[in-house]
Amino acid sequence: MNYILVINSSVSGNASVSRLLVGDVVQRLIDINPQAHLTYRDVGQDPIPHLTPANVAGVRAIAQTEEELATRTLSDQLIAELQAADLIVIGAPMYNFSIPSSLRTWFDHVLRPRVTFAYGPSGPEGLLKNKRAIVVESRGGLYSEGPSRTIDFQEPYLKQLLGFIGIDDVSFIRAEKIGSAPEGRAAAVESAREQSARAIARLAQG
Ligand SMILES: Cc1cc2nc3c(=O)[nH]c(=O)nc-3n(C[C@H](O)[C@H](O)[C@H](O)COP(=O)(O)O)c2cc1C
Repeated sequence: MNYILVINSSVSGNASVSRLLVGDVVQRLIDINPQAHLTYRDVGQDPIPHLTPANVAGVRAIAQTEEELATRTLSDQLIAELQAADLIVIGAPMYNFSIPSSLRTWFDHVLRPRVTFAYGPSGPEGLLKNKRAIVVESRGGLYSEGPSRTIDFQEPYLKQLLGFIGIDDVSFIRAEKIGSAPEGRAAAVESAREQSARAIARLAQG
């Protein structure tokens, strides 16, 4: 894993659990490969503009106006970062049972017809090849088991979005029950660190 794209999306700055754990994942990756090239994109701190009627053609049609051309340039840049990476590390908090709108907006810019996905005779095909992803999910509650399992629209959605563009090898690291006071956060972080160690050991084996 020589080229790593690191995406954070929490709006909680330094208090963010997912940002902390993404940092932990990155440190472990550097430990096994000090030569790794890192590219950072923090859509929580520096949000990407949402798609609007004035700019959507920049991603989904032919860009003509100044605003559409600016959107096309941004989309090109975000896709280039993705194409250059062999590993994508994503920090994804659960917001309202799904992902932050800033992360969704990043996907809106990188899921581009004929560039990252295409529809062929056998249906949709992801055009990104040979990439892996590690996704850190932070959640106030418990969704990996128990009654709330069916309302987890975060992990299945991320799996679908990444798989749709060709990234099928995804390790999910879950920090759950962060909202259970007062020891919930520490227990979630400890468990997530153990999951990270396992995910990266698997990655290192090739
Ligand atoms: C806007 C917002 C919506 C949230 N919605 C949920 C939710 O639906 N389910 C949940 O378990 N936790 C929810 N939480 C709690 C966060 O998932 C939890 O605080 C997590 O630590 C956020 O990740 P972060 O620390 O990296 O920002 C929400 C938090 C915010 C700010």
